[in-house]
Amino acid sequence: MSTPFDHFNFKKSELQVEGVKLSEVARKLGTPLYVYSKEAFLNPLRTLQAGLKEVDHLICFAVKSNSNLAVLKMLGEAGAGMDLVSEGELYRVSKAGISPRKIVFSGVGKTAPEMAKALEHGVYSFNVESVAELETLNAVALQLKRIAPVALRFNPDVDAKTHPYISTGLKKNKFGLNRKEILNVATNIRKLPGVSFNGISIHIGSQILTLSPLNDAFERAKQLMLELNSLLPSPLTFLDLGGGVGITYKAEKAPSLEKYCQTILKHFGPKAKLKDPIKLLIEPGRTISGNAGVLVTKVLYRKQRGSKDFLVVDAAMNDLMRPALYGSYHDIQPVDQKHTKGTQKKTDIVGPVCESSDCFASDRKLSARLASGDFLAIMSAGAYGFSMSSNYNTRPRPAEILVSDGKYRVIREREKYEDLIQGEKI
Ligand code: LLP
Repeated sequence: MSTPFDHFNFKKSELQVEGVKLSEVARKLGTPLYVYSKEAFLNPLRTLQAGLKEVDHLICFAVKSNSNLAVLKMLGEAGAGMDLVSEGELYRVSKAGISPRKIVFSGVGKTAPEMAKALEHGVYSFNVESVAELETLNAVALQLKRIAPVALRFNPDVDAKTHPYISTGLKKNKFGLNRKEILNVATNIRKLPGVSFNGISIHIGSQILTLSPLNDAFERAKQLMLELNSLLPSPLTFLDLGGGVGITYKAEKAPSLEKYCQTILKHFGPKAKLKDPIKLLIEPGRTISGNAGVLVTKVLYRKQRGSKDFLVVDAAMNDLMRPALYGSYHDIQPVDQKHTKGTQKKTDIVGPVCESSDCFASDRKLSARLASGDFLAIMSAGAYGFSMSSNYNTRPRPAEILVSDGKYRVIREREKYEDLIQGEKI
């Protein structure tokens, strides 16, 4: 279970990460600024690796959660594979030097050209979500005279009990195939000579806070696997159990990764005594990247409207969309510890964009003395932060830095206005 303060905490009256003061980097590089910690990324990865060590496994980091090249390279060097959802992400992971055999290609709407690219690249699996998609992949593979390795995404109809926008495992959701459809594909697999049906994949949602829906989904996947093994010419070789384990943003108690691994092993480990050997894949995003980053922003103005206090900051919804899009909670900490003491006042922390949804937090208790020039850290911004950012309001996206061993380096420069108009014609 990762929390916002595992790696970012107050030392010598200042919010720091691995010995680097956030105020110092903010002053030097400007704000808004994404700051990541190497240790914070690697810790959960190592816990997962240790938890699954007794089985043949591959941990495929969900690239969509944080797709910075340096992050991908660092995780790849630590043994991670990658879970992609687009040709763009394939481009990124190739640049980051990830082995094709450690790549799975997920996503509900892969195009034929994307399939061809990934096939030629030699990915480990296409996680296919519909019969129509499977037929397209079959045709693409035959044309290229290749066999596409495939896992069918099973929608187990399990309620992940998370935000409806990020719940994916119910039959009303657009994701995956049901049991009947999958069995039907298996019966008719000879009609699709361009694909090799090797596995099943599941992913029931994101920010899941109890293991019981995952446990149910794993059991259903296992039953389906056993049924399929009795139908197919040769047994399935892998199961991809998806991602989705939640983290602590506020005070919620997220599952421990050790317990998550034990739940996996209960169904698929040595004690489950499965007849045929099976490789296990998982696709964690948020558990690895969520609490590995913060967004540092500067207070521009304090203003009052009626009884309400507002802090207008220089980060906006385009830099970190989650609060505007899902009403998500992110803890907000003053970078200078002196502001954690003294009178605290209910405050709205808002960005400069002309939309009321450009609000990072409402009625948050923060120091009444916070004023222009003070820095704040928006916590738990490492997952779906920068990767979902945009240039709305023609705002250049923030720089990103990675801290490791007490040093930091810029892993993405702040965008310039020239970057923003590239490709436009007048
Ligand atoms: N695998 C598949 C097929 C997925 O669709 C996702 C996330 C993951 C793995 C990784 O899930 P994670 O371990 O990160 O929960 N933008 C939203 C989250 C969307 C998640 C989409 N799929 C947010 O900011 O909360």
